[in-house]
Amino acid sequence: MTRPGFTDCLERVRENPDAAQEDLVFLLNNESPKEDALLFAAAADVRDRYCGARMVLRGLVEFSSYCGNTCHYCGLNRANGKAERYRLTPDEMVESARLVWDAGIQTIVLQAGEDGIAAQELADVISRIKGEHDMAITLSVGERPREDYALWKDAGADRYLLRVETTDPALYASLHDGRTVETRLACLDTLQELGYQTGSGFMVGPPGQTLDIIAQDIRFLAQREYDMIGIGPFIPHPETPLAHAKTGDLRLTLRTVALIRLTSRNAWLPATTALGSLDQDYRVDALRAGANVVMPNFSPADVKKKYEIYPGKRCVTEQTGACAGCMAGLAMAAGLELDYSRADSLKRVPV
Ligand code: 5AD
Ligand code: FES
Repeated sequence: MTRPGFTDCLERVRENPDAAQEDLVFLLNNESPKEDALLFAAAADVRDRYCGARMVLRGLVEFSSYCGNTCHYCGLNRANGKAERYRLTPDEMVESARLVWDAGIQTIVLQAGEDGIAAQELADVISRIKGEHDMAITLSVGERPREDYALWKDAGADRYLLRVETTDPALYASLHDGRTVETRLACLDTLQELGYQTGSGFMVGPPGQTLDIIAQDIRFLAQREYDMIGIGPFIPHPETPLAHAKTGDLRLTLRTVALIRLTSRNAWLPATTALGSLDQDYRVDALRAGANVVMPNFSPADVKKKYEIYPGKRCVTEQTGACAGCMAGLAMAAGLELDYSRADSLKRVPV
């Protein structure tokens, strides 16, 4: 069964990506599998038309689990005395990039907690990787001063991922100590100004998040024209202040992915690792609801399980690079072509 008005509402959002807040809330607020199926099919169709029916790959290297931040949801927050901390050496980072390249993947995502790495040290790693391979480099190391972002861009970094987490000031403040949404937004603006292909996104289901806030954040991401948008369920980590909160709802997460596809159209949307780390692997479901990126983990085998943002993270026991073999199966299950290209922004010409 679909609710009265559902078809019209879906049509309005599909026709006009500048969707009304109440239409987004109406589509998020749904219990019917039939409505979900129609929404997901519409999103997959928009993905195929705007991006091609393909699934692209990014090789993920988690190079440090140190973090100076205190995000209440994250297992790496600095107050977690039980977290195992490591930092790869520059040589190990360059070696990881070789593994990604040898697997035929042309993008590496260098991700870490806010570990205070010296800007020049990371710039040197970027230059070395760029010197060896013609690959896109994506950074994801949190909030830093403009001059660091600029230094890394000059060294050859192409892209940057920084999830906004939420644009709601009160929710943002309740999840982060001593940080403001204004600073977050300023970092995102700086990244776009510097010419980075910029990715953002948020979790679905942290305590205090409402459907209204999700709708507002979906609209925000579309208006800012981010090149990449990551959405995953909140998964409570036992060593954080949110240990006893509920896991984010799977269907609501998938509806959010689908609505982002309808409103941000030609953005790259990962089927996130968090979606693969619930009671089973739901990444195919995300691909069927409009996602089109998968990020296999290329961190060295002995550090993978130490990068524990949330518990139950998938693929932590596999050998490095094993996930690459799994990718063809995911793409096939979702009816997508497996695409090994760099897959630059579809929104702007790279600079
Ligand atoms: N569950 C799900 N996602 C999380 N993240 C951080 N902690 C969790 C958690 N407990 C997400 C945040 C962050 C990204 C790297 O991982 O959105 O930006
Ligand atoms: Fe990691 Fe399948 S994606 S083993």
